[in-house]
Amino acid sequence: MDKNQMMERAEILVGAVDDLPTIPIVATKVLQLLDDPDVSVEEIADLMLSDQVMTARVMKLINSPVYKPTQEITSLKRALVYLGLRHVRELALTTSVINAFDGTTGALELNAFWEHSFGVGMVSKIIAQKIGYQDLEKAYISGIIHDLGEVFLSNFLRDPFMEVLEYIKTHQIKLVDAEAELLGTTHCEIGLSMARKWNFPDAYCEVIAYHHNPGEATIDPVLCAIVNLSDLFCTVRGLNYGGREWISFNLSDEEAWAILKNESPKLAELDIERFCYELDDAIPDVAELVTSMFSSTEKAKP
Ligand SMILES: [Fe+2]
Ligand SMILES: [Fe+2]
Repeated sequence: MDKNQMMERAEILVGAVDDLPTIPIVATKVLQLLDDPDVSVEEIADLMLSDQVMTARVMKLINSPVYKPTQEITSLKRALVYLGLRHVRELALTTSVINAFDGTTGALELNAFWEHSFGVGMVSKIIAQKIGYQDLEKAYISGIIHDLGEVFLSNFLRDPFMEVLEYIKTHQIKLVDAEAELLGTTHCEIGLSMARKWNFPDAYCEVIAYHHNPGEATIDPVLCAIVNLSDLFCTVRGLNYGGREWISFNLSDEEAWAILKNESPKLAELDIERFCYELDDAIPDVAELVTSMFSSTEKAKP
């Protein structure tokens, strides 16, 4: 089945769901307001404060190991000043996506899903730093949202998706390939269809669509390659939906590695083993972050 057919199937599946979660109106307004060059921190803070859930999530994120403030930040306005307005757009997007799926029950445990997603976000940020990618925040956010399509499959195609998860237990096949084989589409096409509905910026749509084949990306192949490598790394390091997915990879054979080396030739001299140790350091932070973000809204899952 080719990519176009898989995309058509994804559009049909996403289109058929009446109660697809929506992005809250406040998030859309924040995104619009931030396009206004004269907007003030006060205006943005007032708007965000009207959504208590969003405010709570922003405060948790800002005090998480990802941002590491020297002392705890307790007011939203200070959080926005600390972050810079440029980053608020992304933060509004992420917190809204988390909220959209909060409390839903599907084939995947949400905690395992967000651990994978935030792990990929944090490792993406480190790789981005290493290669001198200019927008670290963008790399972080891209990692967080790259597998959104999985939540759709887990929630709205529960039984067929359970079969996919069973199938990869007994076959040495990647999750994305098993989806294509058994469902006729994958979380990449499904995620793209959702991201378009939610008016995500094009670069994010591309990461969602091409994080498993970054060589096909045209807008920002480097960003797709960063997320691809980070995804592989997190998967072999146990941030893999509760140990479900089989995977093996050799960094130097990966298309993404070639893309990044082209972007940053000094990568060729990198001691890969040491680099992996550095990435390993980020892994304990991930569990802590996810626990802190979900502790008030979700019971711990086994
Ligand atoms: Fe994926
Ligand atoms: Fe992933």
